[in-house]
Amino acid sequence: MDKSQTFAEILDRARVILAAAPANAQAGRDGMLQQLCQLLADRVDYYNWVGFYIVEPGGTTLRLGPYVGEPTDHVVIPFGRGICGQAAATGKTFLIQDVSSETNYLSCSICVRSEIVLPIYKDAKVVAELDIDSHTLAPFTTEDEAALGELCRMTATLF
Ligand code: SME
Repeated sequence: MDKSQTFAEILDRARVILAAAPANAQAGRDGMLQQLCQLLADRVDYYNWVGFYIVEPGGTTLRLGPYVGEPTDHVVIPFGRGICGQAAATGKTFLIQDVSSETNYLSCSICVRSEIVLPIYKDAKVVAELDIDSHTLAPFTTEDEAALGELCRMTATLF
């Protein structure tokens, strides 16, 4: 797989999906987020679970939004807990190439070997996150991080 070409195509397609976005209508937003999850899961073979967590009103918990992959028990995650909660609390991207080396980690499936979580900012606040689990050890490169970061910046318009 030619990563740079794949990611360029993903971002082009994401622009098309997001161009149809109705402003701040939640049903429309979730539909777009669902399409973005599907796009990522379809196009990158080592993206085995792709989902969005949304910051709840009050700003101390995350709630699972649209996703593609196996259902997870982690529907509500307090800030600070697990990789997702740490990314929300710090506002930083967490790239975990080997989840077995993480102590503050919430396991969704024993198949998951690695994970990347990127915060989505709106008006300088974290409003949501993109979470991707992989069954492959250490598959993520700076190309994944850059393309997914761009996707998150584009997605911020939905919030
Ligand atoms: N592994 C995450 C929990 C969410 S699932 O991956 C879907 C974490 O440690 O926060």
